[in-house]
Amino acid sequence: VLLQQPYRTAFHFQPPQNWMNDPNGPMYYNGVYHFFYQHNPREAQFGSGNLSWGHAVSYNLVDWVYLEHALNPTDPFDINGCWSGSATILPDGTPAILYTGVDSQSREVQNLAIAKNPSDPYLREWIKSHHNPLMVPVDGIGTRFFRDPTTAWQGPDGKWRVIIGSEINGHGTALLYQSDDFVTWSKSPKPLHFSDATKMWECPDFYPVSVNGTNGLDTSVMDTNTKHVLKASINMDNYMRDSYVIGTYEPETDEFVVDVDFKDKSVDLRYDYGVFYASKTFYDSLKRRRVMWGWVLEADSKLDDINKGWAGLQSFPRSILLDESGKQLTQWPIREIESLRTEEVNIQNKEIEGGAEFEITGITASQADVEVSFHIPNLDDAELLLREWRDPEALCRIKNASAGGKIGPFGLMVLASDNLAEHADIFFRIYKGNDKHVVLMCSDQSRSSLREEVEKTTYGAFIDVDPSQNLSLRSLIDHSIIESFGGRGKTCITARAYPKVAVGNAARLYAFNYGTESIVISSLSAWSMKPAQLSPLHERTKSQ
Ligand code: FRU
Repeated sequence: VLLQQPYRTAFHFQPPQNWMNDPNGPMYYNGVYHFFYQHNPREAQFGSGNLSWGHAVSYNLVDWVYLEHALNPTDPFDINGCWSGSATILPDGTPAILYTGVDSQSREVQNLAIAKNPSDPYLREWIKSHHNPLMVPVDGIGTRFFRDPTTAWQGPDGKWRVIIGSEINGHGTALLYQSDDFVTWSKSPKPLHFSDATKMWECPDFYPVSVNGTNGLDTSVMDTNTKHVLKASINMDNYMRDSYVIGTYEPETDEFVVDVDFKDKSVDLRYDYGVFYASKTFYDSLKRRRVMWGWVLEADSKLDDINKGWAGLQSFPRSILLDESGKQLTQWPIREIESLRTEEVNIQNKEIEGGAEFEITGITASQADVEVSFHIPNLDDAELLLREWRDPEALCRIKNASAGGKIGPFGLMVLASDNLAEHADIFFRIYKGNDKHVVLMCSDQSRSSLREEVEKTTYGAFIDVDPSQNLSLRSLIDHSIIESFGGRGKTCITARAYPKVAVGNAARLYAFNYGTESIVISSLSAWSMKPAQLSPLHERTKSQ
């Protein structure tokens, strides 16, 4: 019996089978994009001791060729798992990987692997250094709190720097190490940064962003027109988040002064306010941009994962820039995604009256890219934002898509069944705050499936935009994932949905407005998406 796979994605990266978590070591090298990932080759569940580095290559970040695993747990310094890490291209052109190994004593240690043959376009073989482990948990570092090295950068003194995620005295910490030769590393007396507002920092990332340019920057670039971003993946009892701060880094002293720290809950900067974790960026020197990958967890039950034979997705790669305000980042799916667009529908200047919805037909609604721009004719009657509504996610749960309002909820219903028994909703509501309007963005999964056992979490965030200008929403819909970008990528929310009925050709797409005030769709474009090609090397023909 052939297993039906209605939830596998068409243009999001996933391995042929079994468990995947963090993105590892992404890089662009000699005309080829490399993507590695935490993979349990044995089963569709996390298995810390079995983790290997899966490996795939691409010429366009859309279509991928699966290769053999790059790193497997084979040596005393990684026998209990090859965990997350990053790639650095050394000045002589050698691609190097720093990764965490869980050693024979279950300690987390940092290891080096070098591409065996840098002229192999696919970099299929990796040699682990005989100097491994390069860094071990000593000087009060907990043996289980020492992992996930970043891409290294070089200071003006020529020394390499790398940060390692840790928790010291209960505080999330980015430990800083330095090296002259990439092999012998010594710990700086001072960490790059730490926070008593968080615990363990997993998968830190640290990179420059241009203050007013539109290009991304290579990791070692430092000048006065540069700010630095520090991201930490924080796994607390009740959430998993990729949170970041923006600051100024002095490469001479390794001083990092942040503008607004992790502690300041009034800001709460996150890459994504939905399900998105352990992300990693890399500098794409071909297109001069910084590109980000993030792990998107399952919402299906463990048993379903096992029955399906796979678990875990990657977000579609996003290019990342500092927002004009300088206060946050913006993200946008890399342009190459547009090569997958096929049938297109367009709508212009269409009013949606209060309480109305309409279906957008003519595309494959389970596999689509939708861009919409809303105009709000009258902002005067916006509801007041109450003081107790500080938590946008909680507000999205109370004021869900079916709770009528004044200006909003308006937005898209995706992966909807034709009787609307199932639908996931991405929408906005506009409130009147103290001195300006406040825009709430929600991704409401509460009615996304008639199945009981799947998670149907609702996510939400405020977007720092002026609603008297057009308000934009883009959603990438791919069978069991919905990635949404509000305000041209100022606020991103990724969600999973496991509909029972609204699968494949049965899925529909609607626009709706359940506020009392009319809303105008100034423009809407939606496309069916072709599937990306993901296949093992031997199945490739020359023409591909
Ligand atoms: C984050 C993480 C990393 C670790 C890896 C193990 O999801 O826990 O800290 O290196 O996954 O798979």
